[in-house]
Amino acid sequence: MTESITITDNRTGESVEVPIENGGVDASAWKTLLPGLWFLDPAFGTTASTESAITYLDGGAGELEYRGYPIEQLAEHSTHLEVAHLLLNGDLPTTAELDSWVDDITHHTFLHENFRRRIYDAFHYDAHPMGLLTSGVAGLSTFYPSSKEIDDPDVRMQQIVRLVAKMPTLAAAAYRFSKGLPFVFPRNDLDYTSNFLAMMFSIAEDDWVPDPALKRAMEILFILHADHEQNCSTTAARVVGSAHADPYVSVAAACAALYGPRHGGANEAVLRMLGEIGSYDNVDAYMERVKSGEERLMGFGHRVYKNYDPRARIIKDAAHDVFAVTGKNPLLDIALKLEEVALADPYFVDRKLYPNVDFYSGLIYQSMGFPTEMFTVLFAIPRTVGWLAHWQEMLEQDSRIARPRQVYTGERGRQYVPIDER
Ligand code: SDX
Repeated sequence: MTESITITDNRTGESVEVPIENGGVDASAWKTLLPGLWFLDPAFGTTASTESAITYLDGGAGELEYRGYPIEQLAEHSTHLEVAHLLLNGDLPTTAELDSWVDDITHHTFLHENFRRRIYDAFHYDAHPMGLLTSGVAGLSTFYPSSKEIDDPDVRMQQIVRLVAKMPTLAAAAYRFSKGLPFVFPRNDLDYTSNFLAMMFSIAEDDWVPDPALKRAMEILFILHADHEQNCSTTAARVVGSAHADPYVSVAAACAALYGPRHGGANEAVLRMLGEIGSYDNVDAYMERVKSGEERLMGFGHRVYKNYDPRARIIKDAAHDVFAVTGKNPLLDIALKLEEVALADPYFVDRKLYPNVDFYSGLIYQSMGFPTEMFTVLFAIPRTVGWLAHWQEMLEQDSRIARPRQVYTGERGRQYVPIDER
């Protein structure tokens, strides 16, 4: 059996054989046979936009690997910055490499003082933090004009360090602004995740440290959210980056995509859904509304996973460690009942709808004291690593500008009609 496909144009009887490589076929191979014919795939459900060596997903088996390492092992043993190094550089760092990487990040967490003092003043006090973060990231590009030199690997890495380091600072600032609280400066004596929690929740103490169990849960959540191959927001980063826009506006474009409730906005939507359901006894009635199409079961379903999202399983376990500290989230029982009903109901089973990464994460965030509006921001912080790893890979692939074609279905050759004759 040859690893290839053959395409035949029945209009001419001509054929072309295309080799199958790494589970894909090169679309340009049939361009000569089928000039001007386009394979229509509006939501990229059956086509690949790129080759990539960063993250592997097997949706049927529910497997997720970063650079070949199973997510379960990384969530158990690693830290967010170690995983960031892995995603960006291709392998786990040595002690010296990790120390140098952590030192770089630690010393780039501050925002330019002009920016920090005024960045959100133009917004309403109750502006959604994702709107603030998206604007803030785009604005950062104006402070680093050299970031446009995207062909220089050293310049690229310098911006990557700045973005990974500053996202928590921008995120915490958005929260503090919305609460009318003074911004908390980053601290160099804390690790990445503890520093973020301190910028979020400390008031004036300069020795504030998070509860170790909550800090570890945050670390695991950051690891699980760091990358997920060609998801909607990563695709946005690659597409904008392919125009050779700078990494700040490419990440801002990704933030904008993540904000959508079908994507990263789902964790916020799950909590609102659980709140609307209100009690364990209302679950069955809600599920009927989902099956009738009146409602969507937020936090369920996935374009790739047609099995349990491996991240959801890990988050569900981590939730118990958090609740041991914070007390059980009262919405947990509603979530568990929704899952129990969905996993037994043919409507969901037939459509292969399982809990995804967003189903349980919000329960943890809420119990840790984050307001619902911050949940997608908590997704954006770690996913900045994935967006930048793909942005970097795209540039290293020397890819062309992303410019898909279309299948035109509109009118042709119409003549202009003066308005008084219409
Ligand atoms: C993330 O891509 C990624 O990797 C994303 C992500 C990442 O790490 O980057 O994993 C993060 O975005 C997770 C997904 C978070 N979104 C949600 O939880 C929102 C709720 N889920 C969906 O809206 C939906 O499942 C999507 C958007 C996630 C996937 O949509 P698809 O692949 O386009 O699937 P579909 O809408 O075509 O649904 C297929 C069928 C439809 O039924 P029929 O028309 O065949 O009868 O399943 C139904 C849908 O109506 N369906 C749902 C449902 N999701 C799909 N029905 C009820 N509730 C749902 N949640």
